[in-house]
Amino acid sequence: MAERVTIGMIGCGGMMGAHERGFRELWDKGIKNFEIVATCDLVKSLAEKMADQVGVWQGNRPRVYSDVETMLKSEPDMMAVDVVTVHRAHHSVVVPCFEAGKHVTVEKPLAITLRAGKLMLDAAEKAGKVFQVAENYRRSTENRAIKWAIDSGMIGKLRMIYWVDVEERLWYWTWRDHRDQAGGGWPLDGGVHFADLFRYHVGDPESLYCTVRTYNPYRYKDTDNLTGAIPVDVEDTTLAVLHFADGVTGSWTYTLSGPGDKWGHRAVYGEHGSLTWGTGFKSRKNSMTMDELIAEHHRAIGPDGVEKLFPRGIQDTIATELNEFVEAVLHGTPVEITGWEGYKDQAISMALYESDAVGRPVLLSDVEALRVEAYQGRLNADLEGMTR
Ligand SMILES: NC(=O)c1ccc[n+]([C@@H]2O[C@H](COP(=O)([O-])OP(=O)(O)OC[C@H]3O[C@@H](n4cnc5c(N)ncnc54)[C@H](O)[C@@H]3O)[C@@H](O)[C@H]2O)c1
Repeated sequence: MAERVTIGMIGCGGMMGAHERGFRELWDKGIKNFEIVATCDLVKSLAEKMADQVGVWQGNRPRVYSDVETMLKSEPDMMAVDVVTVHRAHHSVVVPCFEAGKHVTVEKPLAITLRAGKLMLDAAEKAGKVFQVAENYRRSTENRAIKWAIDSGMIGKLRMIYWVDVEERLWYWTWRDHRDQAGGGWPLDGGVHFADLFRYHVGDPESLYCTVRTYNPYRYKDTDNLTGAIPVDVEDTTLAVLHFADGVTGSWTYTLSGPGDKWGHRAVYGEHGSLTWGTGFKSRKNSMTMDELIAEHHRAIGPDGVEKLFPRGIQDTIATELNEFVEAVLHGTPVEITGWEGYKDQAISMALYESDAVGRPVLLSDVEALRVEAYQGRLNADLEGMTR
């Protein structure tokens, strides 16, 4: 059995910087059961820069590539890849990696569309390799504490969850502002994290109804004077009502076209009280700050439980997720967010768009089974590797 997992980093942009810091933190804490052997980005200078950074703490510099195919051919012994590319490229990068026999961790959302995600699930199953979707939010001390508080009955039987973010973003965010590259706006990109938290804390939604708007089809080079308008084609506003099992309801709103007052509120309510992100616990008679709740959680699970969630005191969510991936490759231990879990998370975000496209509530089971593709069909028609 291998002692170290050899890994290739694919897509060396902004988020790979966070992965590099995660790998480095593991190394700093004495967890050296992996080696970064290659870096790859279409923009070769980014792969070179990443290799330089890794070389500093690892002691040896990874080999550098500017296309995945060459990397896979040149690195037959490399065991795994960490894929952090733009959404559109996830499936076209991940499927060949499975075909070359690599274990894969890929950044969220799983794919640009569910059908593209399905190609990845099928390739993973055929290869029989580890498939992790990098969904890190639930790994924070806060989200672990909220999960524990709900499961231990602190707020009683669940009633509803509110998730509201209202703000204005006028600056241009490159590929993220284009549907054919990103798949959708923030409700998919960032929203898939929230979808995962809904499933983690409340359970799988059964259906949802959503209204989607594009109030401002431009972003601006000069946001102070609103000049240098750049046309964008992702939506900027979603308002959804979610239905979970046992009568639990959810209200999920996001807009980046709300000038003026910026606000947000994220809270889950049960029959006895509420848990509010960033604030803490409140019932009719008692309250606890989030720090107190986290301390209470750690007391309750004891040092062994804390070590399991935060090995060697590591609280960086990317580091703990990469550690889980490496362990899974070496020892066959489970990953928390498998390809299928990532698919179910993504289905919630896609259901927002599908509901608006068909003008009625949609069942999550229909979206997952690709029975509703009014929105995604237009994207699929234009994707490489898609057989429709
Ligand atoms: N977990 C989180 O909190 C979090 C935060 C930010 C981004 N992300 C995710 O990380 C991924 C990347 O986002 P980012 O912000 O780093 O974007 P980015 O644009 O900064 O970087 C993406 C990189 O991928 C490269 N790339 C694109 N296609 C490629 C291909 N076929 N082969 C090799 N390289 C390719 C691009 O050249 C670019 O350097 C996305 O899936 C995004 O949703 C996750």
